[in-house]
Amino acid sequence: MSVMRTKSVERSIADTEDPEFRLKKSLSAFDLTVFGVGVVIGAGIFTLTGRAAHEVAGPAIAISFVVAAIACGLAAMCYAEFASTVPVSGSAYTFSYASLGELFAWIIGWDLILEMFLGAGVVAQGWSAYLGVLLGQFGIDLPPEISYGGVVDLPAIVLVLVLGGLITLGIRESMRVNIVLVAVKLFIVLFVIVAGLMFVNPANYTPFVPDAAPRDAGSGLTQPLLQFLSGVEPMAFGIGGIFAGAALVFFAYIGFDVVATTAEETKKPQRDLPIGIIASLAICTVLYCAVSLVVTGMVPYQDLDPAAALANAFVHYGQPWMGTVIAAGAVAGLTTVVLTLLIGATRIIFAMSRDALLPQSLAKVHPTRRTPWVISIIVTVIVALVAGLTPVGILEEMVNIGTLSAFILVSIGVVVLRRTRPDLRRGFRVPWSPVLPILSAIVCTYLTLNLSVETWLRFLIWLALGFAIYFAYGHRHSRLGRDAGEYLNPAAPKIVGRDEE
Ligand code: ALA
Repeated sequence: MSVMRTKSVERSIADTEDPEFRLKKSLSAFDLTVFGVGVVIGAGIFTLTGRAAHEVAGPAIAISFVVAAIACGLAAMCYAEFASTVPVSGSAYTFSYASLGELFAWIIGWDLILEMFLGAGVVAQGWSAYLGVLLGQFGIDLPPEISYGGVVDLPAIVLVLVLGGLITLGIRESMRVNIVLVAVKLFIVLFVIVAGLMFVNPANYTPFVPDAAPRDAGSGLTQPLLQFLSGVEPMAFGIGGIFAGAALVFFAYIGFDVVATTAEETKKPQRDLPIGIIASLAICTVLYCAVSLVVTGMVPYQDLDPAAALANAFVHYGQPWMGTVIAAGAVAGLTTVVLTLLIGATRIIFAMSRDALLPQSLAKVHPTRRTPWVISIIVTVIVALVAGLTPVGILEEMVNIGTLSAFILVSIGVVVLRRTRPDLRRGFRVPWSPVLPILSAIVCTYLTLNLSVETWLRFLIWLALGFAIYFAYGHRHSRLGRDAGEYLNPAAPKIVGRDEE
């Protein structure tokens, strides 16, 4: 079946040499780690820690962070194996094209567009909210109509336009800005940990795992799919609460996979991609556990403010200026998340249009700057409009489902590619395959079942739209299909690719 056609790894790599579509190779393992930390540490740690501790896990939220890190670690290893075998832009999309076939690849690309487009929009609005708090603390108030939650979220629009301009200019320039902002963000997270340690009261850690209790997890469309399907009452706290907490804080880890989208711009991808992916995940895990231990040590979990636990923990101890420091950290922190998600979104669409599943003219690379400038401009304008004019912030869970579905298919893809192409050189191999990749797929599936029925319905609509576009456009124009002479539509324009020249 032509929808199952796979693109060979050799061909994927050869396509990256096409002068028309060649990106600049300038990134090192260090750049990738900074890139990873830049995208991972964002709204999640600042907002979810308190909420998850207060509502479902208590001080054991630190264990939830470890559980979520293990789930991400399993997926991270699968990404690392793929990225070191197929060092081509497009991340999970490209990996699935090589292993599971074109239709799966398209779906994954479509999911990643959801993850990164929506993620950039959601986080841009979060940035605007924190900017409002920060400016407010300096006595500057923006008119409510043009700030976060107003008719037009002007700060979010300006942020996306500035960052979009930067990524159009060049990946190195973007990385330079990124490194400064990541340093500020890390400094502030470490500062929160060290300052908070002074106010820790060890008594707050008992009980570390509070007794299980029934939890109000919504009803109807807002209840988790698992509850809807099984009818089992969800529990808070206890061992179950640790897992529910892990599903909640998963959002805080999202982003390490974006490192794989820059595979083609990495100098030594086989070595550096696994380092970048795994190192950024490890750094974030340590910081997250430390922050969650500090915050639950400062304030009994029952008294944590679910909306702004971190800042209010310090207010509780008469240190309100820490609120300013935390807001500044969030503004710096969220800037890099948006920047990196924008880069990720452009690289996915670049890979998909280079393969002609989307119009190939989009994938044009700038002759001197070697960035996919047409796509960068389109992505920037769309994300700016969405972040500035729609309530995209409420779609946060859609980012989780887009990411998790990509994780599941990448994990399965590792097992498939090991069988179909055992001969390929793999810079990194997932240990105990196929056990770990299968476990990764199972854990990620479990996490998706904890998302709301509403999110699932929205996701199914997004998938249906994706299928419609694939069969209306991608399937007929696919470069792979064209070269194999599989035209469904003989009238489709034949674009001369490198292979025919
Ligand atoms: N992990 C990112 C955040 O927490 C998406 O903002």
